[in-house]
Amino acid sequence: MDFLPFTRPTIDDETIAGVAEVLRSGWITSGPKVKEFEAALSRHCGGRPVRALATGTAALEIGLKLASIGRGDEVITTPLSWVASSNVILQAGASPVFVDVDPMTRNIDLDLIERAITANTRAILPVYLAGLPVDLDRLYWIAGKRGLRVIEDAAQAFGSSWQGTPVGARGDLIAFSFHANKNITTAEGGAIVLPDESYVPLCEKLRLQGVVRFGEDGMDVDVAGVKANLTDVAARIGLGQLLHLDKFTEKRRALARRYFERFDASLGCELPVADFENSNWHMFQVVLPIDVKRGDFIARMREAGIGVGVHYPAIHLFSLYRSLGWHEGQYPHAERIGRAIATLPLFPAMSDADVERVCESSRTIIREMLQ
Ligand SMILES: Cc1ncc(COP(=O)(O)O)c(C=O)c1O
Repeated sequence: MDFLPFTRPTIDDETIAGVAEVLRSGWITSGPKVKEFEAALSRHCGGRPVRALATGTAALEIGLKLASIGRGDEVITTPLSWVASSNVILQAGASPVFVDVDPMTRNIDLDLIERAITANTRAILPVYLAGLPVDLDRLYWIAGKRGLRVIEDAAQAFGSSWQGTPVGARGDLIAFSFHANKNITTAEGGAIVLPDESYVPLCEKLRLQGVVRFGEDGMDVDVAGVKANLTDVAARIGLGQLLHLDKFTEKRRALARRYFERFDASLGCELPVADFENSNWHMFQVVLPIDVKRGDFIARMREAGIGVGVHYPAIHLFSLYRSLGWHEGQYPHAERIGRAIATLPLFPAMSDADVERVCESSRTIIREMLQ
């Protein structure tokens, strides 16, 4: 039986042909395809300005810069995420202030945010783990009341929504990733949704070394930008992917429903929130019972031909963060989930039979491990 990875992109033949066309066109870096991709992303985001970038990380970095976050500022975020979401805060010269997660949603616990706010707090950077957004009404109510900026790490949440409105169509600054394992991909890539047109010139400068051109030969630099433009090759992949967004999301939701029907509840795993309205089901993650060693589970599943991922260990327990003063015991939910969370296969090309195979192998392996 073929190996079943935990994720795999679906790229159609038209997209592959379209990429070949771009490669033959003589213009392969940022050009007309990027503009077309940005226009399509903007339509998805209720007409708001969107700029394509080289990575989701760059979208967060530029988002922090656009919100004027820098030295001495504090940014409230979650310890249960890909490390990019807090590394960018350090890179900005600011300090991440972690707030523990809600053990049900595995996202930042909105109930705990207000008590983490200090005189230095400038922003909240929530992460929508596995594509499940936080309560955006409540998030923006807290931010508005306390005069804080919001940089949404929606890296995993393209295609998700909050009460009928797509993530990205409302709010402050929203960062998406189009990395290969995301719901739509450009191989590597990202985008930032801006609050209004006034942010566009600085955003465009920041993504390309701070350069402004004028006249036939004029050039100036008044801000130290980065190099974070997307290529036309990548944008063409993204345009092909966007055509399938609704179908991909529908399929992911159907597969997630299948997991809920078939995953053996008696094994003692914690399942995700069964949300079929808001989440794009970027991942299907279970928290393993305390007596199941995750590393052994992953190895046994691999022997059974099934890939299992780890998203993610708690950030504050990485050496870098420990060296900055964080330690075990500070965020108990994130720590426990970070030790035991396992990502089971979920991607649009999977079949119901694949889900059944995963559930069957998980049942056999976890039962044996618990004996
Ligand atoms: C939650 C989260 N934040 C940020 C990123 C960074 O995105 P990229 O890998 O495109 O830089 C990712 C990507 O894995 C992510 O999952």
